[in-house]
Amino acid sequence: MYADNWALRAKEKGYRSRAVFKLEEIFAKFSIPKKLTIVLDLGAAPGGWSQYVKEYAENPKVFAIDLLNMKPINGVKFFQTDIQDLEMIGPIMQNKGHTSLVISDLAPNLSGIVAVDVANIFELNMMTLKTASDFLEKSGILIVKTFQNENLKIFKKEMENVFKIVQTHKPAASKKQSQEIYLIGQKLHE
Ligand SMILES: C[S@@+](CC[C@H](N)C(=O)[O-])C[C@H]1O[C@@H](n2cnc3c(N)ncnc32)[C@H](O)[C@@H]1O
Repeated sequence: MYADNWALRAKEKGYRSRAVFKLEEIFAKFSIPKKLTIVLDLGAAPGGWSQYVKEYAENPKVFAIDLLNMKPINGVKFFQTDIQDLEMIGPIMQNKGHTSLVISDLAPNLSGIVAVDVANIFELNMMTLKTASDFLEKSGILIVKTFQNENLKIFKKEMENVFKIVQTHKPAASKKQSQEIYLIGQKLHE
């Protein structure tokens, strides 16, 4: 399917972003369970992934954060904050250790200076991984967007230090020319 057709399909289905179809494919490919108690959506705006999780899972509690504001979604608790400041959000901190799934589509604003962008992506990825290891229950799952650059191997290794299973996936809805790729981590090491 052409890239624009994904956007059209998202509009038809009432989704706020074409990114929904990437998550849909990952959920299907990795058999993500429908029984998700608490889900944390990092970099959630405009809200496509949160919408999809609400639809997919059986009555999950979804917590979403973003630097940007996001229009409300029924059943999603949204907090406008930087991922660095999660510690200040009491209702989110209560979920430490018993979150079933962390999804992160976080992407920095690109500066155009490759070295700076690569470093910013790595920093966001590492913050996501730390958040996932703090919040997930032992059987928890992390789905995180990263990019195919010189840090990919290093980040995958960092994920392997936290999760027993780490897999990589490039969804069909992800533009071919885009360097983005998703890592899926399952089951925390004891
Ligand atoms: C690709 S968009 C997410 C799209 C979303 N998954 C959807 O389906 O609608 C990436 C988001 O990450 C957010 N972001 C980037 N850096 C962030 C940070 N440090 N803390 C919180 N959000 C951040 C951006 O504001 C942006 O809205």
